[in-house]
Amino acid sequence: MTAPMIRQLSDLRAQVASWKAAGETIGLVPTMGALHQGHLSLVAAAKAACDRVIVTIFVNPRQFNSAEDLANYPKTEEQDAQKLKPFNVDALYVPDGDQIYPEGFSTTVSVGGVVDVLCGAARPGHFDGVATVVTKLFLQSQADQAFFGEKDFQQVQVVTRLARDLDIPIKVVPCPTIREEDGLAMSSRNLLLSDRARVYAPELNRAMEDVAESVLAGNDMAQARAAALARLERAGFTKVDYFELRASDDLRLLQRPDVPARLFVAAWLAGVRLIDNIAVG
Ligand code: PAF
Repeated sequence: MTAPMIRQLSDLRAQVASWKAAGETIGLVPTMGALHQGHLSLVAAAKAACDRVIVTIFVNPRQFNSAEDLANYPKTEEQDAQKLKPFNVDALYVPDGDQIYPEGFSTTVSVGGVVDVLCGAARPGHFDGVATVVTKLFLQSQADQAFFGEKDFQQVQVVTRLARDLDIPIKVVPCPTIREEDGLAMSSRNLLLSDRARVYAPELNRAMEDVAESVLAGNDMAQARAAALARLERAGFTKVDYFELRASDDLRLLQRPDVPARLFVAAWLAGVRLIDNIAVG
């Protein structure tokens, strides 16, 4: 069944009120569209956990660092609605711009601490944009649970923190990264890769797996990282924003995985910024 499409906040509110009155729980899957299996796994998790599921599609201008990146971001609303059909979601909320940022909008939600590193450092203001729109979507939907992919591990930490700090009664549910068969983490940005770049893109994950194996074997992180960077350069990656080992709980930088740790990488291939992270150990 095609999900009922809602574009106005007042319509969403009316729908949510009727579900709440019936005592039903609501799951939220916030997206920027260009849906892939990663998103659909979040929808499946939401369906399994909640009575009602709202998927949102909103390409949030405030989280982009350049007008060009925003303009290039894939927009595939019709295909997205088709992909959602088998899941029978209860609402597809595709808000008009003014339903999120009405005229005169002047509030920013800014989370401290976890945003100072990785994508927060490489993309100034990005997480303010994410935190602001996610706060709005949490409050607009009044959902009980919200589902986010661990591919954006730092984003999961940001939205978990903001819900806690602002007493928004919602449970943030992290879901595992979904990968292509060759290991490339699924991402809407993969659609922007040329055929040639797509062939080399999985090197990112392979380089991470090698570094993880190496540091787990007790080898030096700096050496393993240097080898990984050389490998990425050979594969055609032009810039690496970060390739770091960090603690899973607070993202502090580590030299060895002596606490639960993850490797985080962001690198550019043929003009496309790819990010990924994996647990180490
Ligand atoms: O992960 C995304 O697609 C976006 O950052 C989100 C959470 C939908 C906010 O715009």
